[in-house]
Amino acid sequence: MVIKNVSLDIVCGIKSALPDTKRPEIAFAGKSNVGKSSLINSLMNRKSLARTSSSPGKTQTINFYNINEVMYLVDLPGYGYARASEEVKAQWGKMIERYLHSSKNLKAVFLLIDVRHEPSNNDKLMYRWILDQGYEPIIIATKLDKLKRSQVAKHVKQVKEGLDVKKGTRILPFSSVTKAGREEIWQLMDEILEETKEENLS
Ligand code: GTP
Ligand code: MG
Repeated sequence: MVIKNVSLDIVCGIKSALPDTKRPEIAFAGKSNVGKSSLINSLMNRKSLARTSSSPGKTQTINFYNINEVMYLVDLPGYGYARASEEVKAQWGKMIERYLHSSKNLKAVFLLIDVRHEPSNNDKLMYRWILDQGYEPIIIATKLDKLKRSQVAKHVKQVKEGLDVKKGTRILPFSSVTKAGREEIWQLMDEILEETKEENLS
């Protein structure tokens, strides 16, 4: 997609009602600090419209970015943010669950995993849970620039095996520093949007 205009349209807190945007939504889930907001900035060609931080727990609301008035990229709060209180963690968890469970317009869920590390128990739970909601999560292995080229295949395999992904699951390596993988992610999202259009016609 050629990005013409982007804006942060809707911000949902713990108590907000979730919106019916009436446009296809693609959501980005993953552990706190894995690079969800950075990825969304890269996809939008913006440096800092989505706020990022080197300390985890930056995004604490569900943020809907309007892309060209045709779709939304949805930035979710991260899970596993150790410094949040148990109560807050539980509330965020419920908010993410509520969104993934009830959005009428959600077309695909990308699950981000730091390519350097083995998926955590929370990552595994999230992967299974997204599957249980009826979505086939697409995995993005983030922070690719942190690995030497010779290490990449081994680490991608580690992510794949750690999550025990379903056969045929796409795993796309990505770096918001070098933008490697950006085109592939947009290509996949464009395909998803095309499929959505066809569904609406049939
Ligand atoms: P929460 O909002 O806390 O859930 O985190 P997030 O997943 O949105 O992560 P965010 O995009 O804020 O990035 C966290 C940190 O990782 C920031 O310091 C980013 O600059 C850094 N970061 C994100 N993506 C990359 C990447 O591809 N490579 C490198 N080297 N650093 C990255
Ligand atoms: Mg964030």
